[in-house]
Parts: sequence; structure tokens; C-alpha cells
Amino acid sequence: MEIFRTVAELRQWSREFRCEMSGLDGKRIGLVPTMGALHAGHASLIRAAAAECGQVTVSIFVNPTQFGPQEDFAHYPRSFEADCALAEAEGASAIFAPAVNELYPGGAFSPIATFVDVEGLGARLDGASRPGHFRGVATVVAKLLIAAEPDKAYFGQKDAAQAAVVRRMAGDLRLGVEIVVCPIVREVDGLALSSRNVYLSHTERVQALALSRAVGKVEALVASGERGAEALIAVAHEVFNSEPAVQVDYVAVVDWETLEPRDSADPGSLFAVAAYVGSTRLIDNAILR
Ligand code: PAJ
Repeated sequence: MEIFRTVAELRQWSREFRCEMSGLDGKRIGLVPTMGALHAGHASLIRAAAAECGQVTVSIFVNPTQFGPQEDFAHYPRSFEADCALAEAEGASAIFAPAVNELYPGGAFSPIATFVDVEGLGARLDGASRPGHFRGVATVVAKLLIAAEPDKAYFGQKDAAQAAVVRRMAGDLRLGVEIVVCPIVREVDGLALSSRNVYLSHTERVQALALSRAVGKVEALVASGERGAEALIAVAHEVFNSEPAVQVDYVAVVDWETLEPRDSADPGSLFAVAAYVGSTRLIDNAILR
């Protein structure tokens, strides 16, 4: 497995592969963008990419521009050696792990830097509670897509709003990449895997189950015929009320592409929650069928 630190190296490698493989069916290039601290959720994306692409790059970059000033950028878990081992075992052919100044040569917070802002979508759900977050995500994902020139890029439904923002950005900029969204990987008790779960104490780990419980209850209610967003949101709040240590950020029924609120859970709607467990912000969701 190759390890690249610069955009130039990654781009050259992608282009060489494309030249060698031109004319061969199915020899696609896949990209799996991550911030490292890889777990089974990331592994599922790498596996999906390896099953469909002849070359798979996993990027590992803790992106400063998507963190707010009071957020956990400095403390975000970093485990580069273990990440490389996991990525290789799941079928990655390269790691792209640039330094901050490689992706932000002008400085990540320079007022003259170039940013990608997905208007509307970027200010909904997590974008409403974390101003500037999706601008940072869209900017770094655009940089990664431009550097790696993949045919397909893989994202998790775990971050459903992020997937919607990225899909819109890639479409609007005509990047010519297919955005693939893979299902949420959970612990056996239902908790969605997240690099931030390591922040949870033993007690918080139990309290955090309120998120998947709320999502599960809403899915069950929809399966039993309930469609009203208000009723579904109320049921989720009941679950959160039974776990007062968990502070709800949002509970929403939205269109899964536009992230606009919906009154009823018709096919294509997304039920999404975000909540603080102690100082850790967690998210979870389900696509309502
Ligand atoms: P990160 O949190 O490392 O997640 C990388 C990818 O893994 C995202 O697409 C995320 O949705 C997916 N993922 C995380 N937990 C998952 C789970 N339990 N099941 C399935 N997929 C899961 O998301 C980011 O990094 C960053 O915002 C990034 C896109 C890399 C831009 O910096």
C-alpha cells in the first residue's frame, strides 16, 4: 500500500493508473475520505470501494476548517499506524495523509483562502448548530476529489446531512464523480459507530443509546403506519426525556436530498437526531421507507 503526503504524488498515481487501465472495464478509482481513527464504519466504506474499484485511496486528514473554535480539533483521536493497517486489510491501495499546509497553502483560516459553500443545504441540521461546518466539509471534500480524480467516492449514511451536501456540491461543480452512500454500521446494542465514541465515559456510553433508541422507535412507528412528522418527533422527544443527561440539539424529519423540513414521512424522507452526551455531540438517523 502506498502512502502519499502531497496532492502532486496522489494525482500522478491516479493518472498513471487511469492510463494503464484505459480500455479495461471496471478498473475504476475509488476514494474514501476520512479523518482517521478508523473503525468498522470506515471499514465498511473501504470494503465497498474495494469491491467496485481497481484502485482505492483512503484519505486521512483531520480537517481544521470543519471544526468550530470551541470544538475538538486539537483533541480529535489520531491513530495513523492502526489506521493504515485497517485500511490495507480492507483492500485500500493507498493512503493520502497530507499536512494541513498541503491542502491549505494560504493557511486554513486565511481571509483570502478559497472555500466551497453549498448555500441552503449547508445551513440546515448540523449546519445550523455548527455554523461553517459544512463549508469546511464541502471545501475539503472538493480538494480531495480534485486531487484524487476518483470515479466514485464513498460516504456513510451515518452523516446523512454531510452526504447530501457533498452530493449537491459534486453535482453543482460537475466533478464527474459518483457519490456512493453506505449504510450505518452499529454496535450490537445499536449505538452508531463514531470516532467520537471514545470520548464517552462508561455512564455516557449507556446514555448515548437514547439516540439509536429514538431512531428505532420512529422507524417502528413508521412501519406501523404513522406518517405525521410531528407525531414522530414527539415520540423521539419522549425517549430523550427519559434520559435527562442527554441534551437534544435537533430532532427532524427532512427531505434527504434538500434537508428541507417535511410534514410527513413520505418515501425519501430522513429522520435525523443530534444530541450532546456530556460534552460529546453525537448524531444518528434513518431513511424512512
Ligand atoms: P469521518 O468522521 O472520519 O467519517 C468518514 C466517513 O465514514 C464519512 O463518510 C462517515 O459518514 C463514515 N462513517 C462514520 N461512521 C460511520 C458508521 N457508523 N457507519 C457507516 N459510515 C460511517 O465524515 C468525515 O470524517 C469528514 O467530515 C470528511 C468527509 C472526511 C471530511 O473531512
